[in-house]
Amino acid sequence: MFKIVSKRQLSPAITEMKVLAPRVAESALPGQFVIVRTDEFGERIPLTICDYDPEAGTVTIVTQTIGNSTAKINQLNEGDYFLDFAGPLGQPSDLVELFSSENGKRKTESGPRVLFVAGGVGTAPVYPQAKYLHDHGITPDVIIGAKTADLFTYVEEMKKVSNVYLCTDDGSAGFHGMVPALMEDLLVRQGKKYDHCVIIGPMIMMKFATQKAKEHNLPAVVSLNALMVDGTGMCGACRVTVGGKTRFTCVEGPEFDGWQVDFDEAMRRHSMYRNNPKNDPHTHPCTCLP
Ligand code: FES
Repeated sequence: MFKIVSKRQLSPAITEMKVLAPRVAESALPGQFVIVRTDEFGERIPLTICDYDPEAGTVTIVTQTIGNSTAKINQLNEGDYFLDFAGPLGQPSDLVELFSSENGKRKTESGPRVLFVAGGVGTAPVYPQAKYLHDHGITPDVIIGAKTADLFTYVEEMKKVSNVYLCTDDGSAGFHGMVPALMEDLLVRQGKKYDHCVIIGPMIMMKFATQKAKEHNLPAVVSLNALMVDGTGMCGACRVTVGGKTRFTCVEGPEFDGWQVDFDEAMRRHSMYRNNPKNDPHTHPCTCLP
């Protein structure tokens, strides 16, 4: 059993929980995820690790209520328990590869210049990556996009580890427009140069942000929030097409080369149960749904 040691409401539908899971906290790396179950009747829910503290033995997760299962998670309170909290799963972010395992030293002396693009609740999984870079002497730029100002999350945390650029669809805070428009502004009007871009958010946002990165010849990694069931590479539920090949998000991802991802297929698979979730016990409740 895994105790919830703190709970914070980030917005009416978005909740942050710190969960006591020492073995997960000890080995977690940015980009990885956990699969949780509230009780023996609960679905297996994949959630990106948003932060981890090996000393305290805690792992931070953020969930957005979008269906029965995520509602059940968000009804849990401080002091309650998850039945299962399995992880860390998936591959760590490519950025971790930039540092040698010995001494945590950077392999490259200069750079890299990294741009993160976060949409909606995708901000939370961007945070550990930005923090990881910051801890290793690199301060990345981070674009955070939301429909309206009241939907921003993790902005203050992110400002401590990165240069933050906000944008809203309605202009209620920051740049007035969506993330691809702000990317264009940074890359063209402000003349910023980057070596690497990481995009995390709703699938449709990742598609268009990746297109924008490609227009500027900027390598882009995306974190795919595919449907998942077992999370061990055996069921095939999480399959996506990358570079014309079938890949399993749970064991080979969740991060892939955005230029190579078949986003249209991924979006079709991602939404296939949305209108009839009762028929599918494994509807993916990822926090990154649009
Ligand atoms: S979730 Fe079953 S193969 Fe990935």
